[in-house]
Amino acid sequence: MSQGNVTELISHIITALSNCSLYSEEHPLVGEFSEKALRVMEGLYSNDTLTLTLLGDSLVFNDNPITDKGAHISSFKRKLKRKGIEKIIIRKGVGFEEFKKFIAGVASTERVASSPRISVGMVEVRFSSEGADVGALLNENITKVKGIYQGIAKFKRLDMVSLEDAVAGFITTLKRETNVLRIVSPVKSYSEYTYVHATNVSVLTIFQAEALGMKGENLHDVGLAGLLHDVGKMFVSKEVLEKETKLDLEEWNAIQRHPVFGARYLATLSDVPKLALITAFEHHMKFDGSGYPDTKRRGRRQHIMSQMVAIADFFDALRTERPYRMAVESTTVIQFMKEATGKDFNPLLVENFLYALKKIRAI
Ligand SMILES: [Fe+2]
Ligand SMILES: [Fe+2]
Repeated sequence: MSQGNVTELISHIITALSNCSLYSEEHPLVGEFSEKALRVMEGLYSNDTLTLTLLGDSLVFNDNPITDKGAHISSFKRKLKRKGIEKIIIRKGVGFEEFKKFIAGVASTERVASSPRISVGMVEVRFSSEGADVGALLNENITKVKGIYQGIAKFKRLDMVSLEDAVAGFITTLKRETNVLRIVSPVKSYSEYTYVHATNVSVLTIFQAEALGMKGENLHDVGLAGLLHDVGKMFVSKEVLEKETKLDLEEWNAIQRHPVFGARYLATLSDVPKLALITAFEHHMKFDGSGYPDTKRRGRRQHIMSQMVAIADFFDALRTERPYRMAVESTTVIQFMKEATGKDFNPLLVENFLYALKKIRAI
């Protein structure tokens, strides 16, 4: 077996999946790349079957670990982890329609069903929360995010599986309770702030992205980006972050470095989507080019996702009581947001957020 062919197969699958998430199952590119994948598969069967197994962080094809560390392979591993898929067995004779159904299943946020010639082995626990009530789901999510953040603080490691689980949990919760303001949690103590805020920003960013029509895989990336936007704060001293009095210049500079610290940290991890890195770096940049890090001279403009994270970040940060000020009412936050439209925030995205809140009668 040539590893090159397996890499080619996976890159076709990834392209079909991305187009399916971005457009629909019926998009011509989904068909085109499904066909390409099927053609490559012809040369890869062993005993008329082809098996892909995810073992921890390694992907195994038939019995051979895939050594390629390219972007398609890590993206494929991430997708499998995200869906809780441990094994895929494809049998010779699989047809175009059946394969396309499989692609649509993986691209969706639902469970992937097995079909006559494609067996999908899934981790059961991943979908255990389907029957739980919203309150229980929320607590479960917060506990997960707390664990992830504690892991970063102690070992500087990121538990991607829990992270993916948490985001899947937010998406499910938002389906159940459409009023996003009932999902975003209050912060009960200052020590909770970091991960409760991360959770809220993730939920509020997913909410905006859904209102813009994003779905499936893309929503997951958005959720991850929201969850990790402030990860750089783990590298700023607690005394500075929790200081109740006015910050001096040096302390303020330390805080302003968290986007760079965050992006730098995420860049060291191979299975974090690039979008998370971008939003961590850009979420304090502003629509009019001001803010920090200062990249004006290089002409860098904020990515649209960073603009959405910035809206979520502002909304949640003001709603929450902090050591140095009281919480602000949602209606007042919205007033502030409107005033800063066009300067701090992208007007179209503010409109999208407010319209979506009105539609669910949250405001
Ligand atoms: Fe931040
Ligand atoms: Fe933040």
